[in-house]
Parts: sequence; C-alpha cells; structure tokens
Amino acid sequence: MRLTILGGGGFRVPLVYGALLRDHAPGRVTEVTLYDVDGARLAAIAKVLADQARDSADAPAVRATTDLDEALRGADFVFSAIRVGGLAGRAADERIALAEGVLGQETVGAGGVAYGLRTVPVADAIARRIKAVAPGAWVINFTNPAGLVTEAMARHLGERVIGICDSPVGLARRVARTVGADPDAVRLDYAGLNHLGWLHGLYEGEQDVLPRLFADDALLTSFEEGKLFGADWLRSLGSVPNEYLHYYYFNREAVAAYRQAELTRGAFLLDQQARFYATVADGEQAWDAWDRTRAEREATYMSENREVSGAGERAADDLESGGYENVALALMRAIARDEPATLILNVRNGSSLHALDAEAVVEIPCRVDASGPRPLPVTQLTGHEAGLVSAVKAVERCVLEAAEAGSARAAVKAFALHPLVDSVQVARRLLDGYRDAHPGLAYLRP
Ligand code: G6P
Ligand code: MN
Repeated sequence: MRLTILGGGGFRVPLVYGALLRDHAPGRVTEVTLYDVDGARLAAIAKVLADQARDSADAPAVRATTDLDEALRGADFVFSAIRVGGLAGRAADERIALAEGVLGQETVGAGGVAYGLRTVPVADAIARRIKAVAPGAWVINFTNPAGLVTEAMARHLGERVIGICDSPVGLARRVARTVGADPDAVRLDYAGLNHLGWLHGLYEGEQDVLPRLFADDALLTSFEEGKLFGADWLRSLGSVPNEYLHYYYFNREAVAAYRQAELTRGAFLLDQQARFYATVADGEQAWDAWDRTRAEREATYMSENREVSGAGERAADDLESGGYENVALALMRAIARDEPATLILNVRNGSSLHALDAEAVVEIPCRVDASGPRPLPVTQLTGHEAGLVSAVKAVERCVLEAAEAGSARAAVKAFALHPLVDSVQVARRLLDGYRDAHPGLAYLRP
C-alpha cells in the first residue's frame, strides 16, 4: 500500500513513520512518498527516517519528491500536513494579532483566520490535483486550521477527505485515566468543531462517568483540562471543553500572557526548527537531534495557558507523542483493511448537529470501516455551545468565500465576525497588517 505525505519535510513526519514501523500486519503501508516544496527539509527528514528504520527488516521504502503530481500518482492514502508560509508565517500571524491586542493563535481567533486565508487556496489547489491524479485515494488532513481546511478540500473530494486532530482523543484519554476507566473501552460523547468541542459524557457500558468526576474536586483538578479550567468552571459548564477553549473562556488572561512572553509559540518553534534542520544538514545523528527537539516541543506546548491557570508542568503521560499518528494509522487501517474503529474525526455534519448545515465539517465520533467514516449519534450542543460553534463556522465560511472570490471584503468580515475580535476597525487593520506581512494574501482584492 502506498502512502503519500504532503509536507513530507515537516517535523512531525517521523511520528507517522514510527507508527508505520510498528505495523507488521498484511496490507500495511510498504511505500512512503514524501512531498514538500523545500528539498532541504525533505533531505533532513529522510535522514531521520533512515536512522529510524535502521533495525527494521520490513520498514516501508521512502522516496522524496518536490513534484506534486508525481507524489500523488498511485497513492492509496494521502496525508496532508502542510504549513503554508512556514513557521515564519505562524510567528507573523501571532505578532500582528497580539499587536492589536487580540489572540494570535494558529487555529483560534485572528491568527487562525489569517492562517486559514493563506492556507485555503493552497489546500484547494491540492485537492483539485488529488481529484485529477489520484481520484481513488483517501485523504487524511492534518493541516491546520484542520476543520476549515478539511471543509475546503471536501468541496472537491467529498467524503474522501477526513480531518484529524489529537486533542479530543487526548482529552478523553486523560478523563478516562482519571476515573480509572479503560481509555480504549469507553464511549465518547464529544461534539463541536476542531479545537472547539466539548466532552458531554464518557461511558463505561451504560454508565456516564463524568458525574463521578465532577463530584470529586481532587480528581477534577488532577488532569490537564481540569487544571486549565478549574473545577468550578467545569461544573458550571457541565462538560469538559477541549483545551483550546481556554483561549475563549480565559481570553483576556491568555492574550496578556502571550503579549508578555519573550517569544510567541511560532517564533520559538521557528528558532528551534532552524537549529534542528541545520544540525541534521551538518551531519549530526539525525534521530537524536530530532528526538531531543521533539521532547522540548512537547514540554513547552501551551505553556502560557498553563501559566495563566497555574496548571504547572505537563503530566508525563501527556508528553509522549502518539496522538496524531495513532489516529491517522487507526483510520487508515479501518479503511484499508476493513478493521472497524471508532474515532473522533472531522467529517461532514450531515444531520448530526442540528445547529449546523449538512455540508459543515464538524468534529464528532465516527464508526469507520472500508466504506469510510459514519458519524455516530451524539448529544446535541447546548445553547451556549451551538452559539459559539455557529459563530465560528460563519467565520470559516467567510474565509472560504474570501479564498474562492479573492475578496478582501469577505476576509475583513471573517476577522470582524470572530468572537475573539472585538471591532470592525480592528478587523480592517488586521487584514492590512497580514497583507503587508504575507505575500500569499496578495490574491485578496478590494
Ligand atoms: C496539538 C493540536 C494540533 C497542533 C499542535 C500544535 O497537537 O491538536 O492541531 O498542531 O498541538 O503544537 P505546537 O507544538 O505546534 O504548538
Ligand atoms: Mn489539532
């Protein structure tokens, strides 16, 4: 089976390859094609993968190319994990928003809108090439903002594109462990958009364990989301929000902390990755350099949010990577080998969430087999949740419209309608700032 990874020079590719190396079953991936626009990054990652495969007899063969059509031809699965504008673009997204006093995060708020405006046209063009060159391939989208990008690609690929994220499964695993349930045996009642969802229930058999969690202060504040949001606020909500909701519920504090930070997340990662890719090019042990860099990245994830809420260091369990690649691999196996699995995925809503239309891409549990994912029944969103989700989906639709029509007006509307942007004037200045910083936004015309 052939897997193509778009963004194949990206830092997280060895996580995916590691998951492939652990799979020895018949029908596993035997050929991996890495595609990237940057040949030097491809070469560096290819070295890490070669180190990684050293002791494996049945390691998937790896080839690298900077030709998109060549990469896509013959692919059974395509993982799309690109970063349009690179980490310098991410750092600019953050800096420009923070200078206006609003959040500059890669998936949430003004930063997410800017990143979406830059990424959607590229993802759209890729989806068209996939449709032309590899129409039978399944596409697993990791590219952020993942829900929006999946919806953009679904306009060409329909149900053949599925978005993934590790945050819902990470949340569910932490809650399950906290109450002593088996994370692999529980049923998750989770719904929302990517990075904007809530866990309404976690069932062991017929029993929802959330009431047990909510009744116990010590338990409730013992895991990441409990520490971020606090027991009192979780009880008020009556659900456990995705960690990215911290940017909404504690927006003022998060923005203040991000403004004070010496480096934004993007700027930190930009430096860190520049060092990593240079080190590998200089011939240092590629795997060691990669693993060191990965550990540092995991340890510092969402550090400002944790600081704001006094959450302290991340739990040891949360430092293992394993989220993304395991979801992706389980999804690929379910489809390719008809091994049914239940996964939280970004798929078309259909009739699942009443607050949204059928075409909206939402993040919900699905049963997946060879015929693809089918959404499972979930509890409907509460009024508050539906309000937020509808508002953010409206923003995403403005981004899609801006990208499709090249409309600066729609882009301003996307910024202005975002619940975390507090003025149309701010929205206009944001677009001006982003257009100055990103050549990739030149397509937007007044
Ligand atoms: C989580 C999110 C991803 C995001 C990543 C960012 O895993 O679910 O969507 O890409 O965090 O981490 P970073 O190290 O880039 O800040
Ligand atoms: Mn994610």
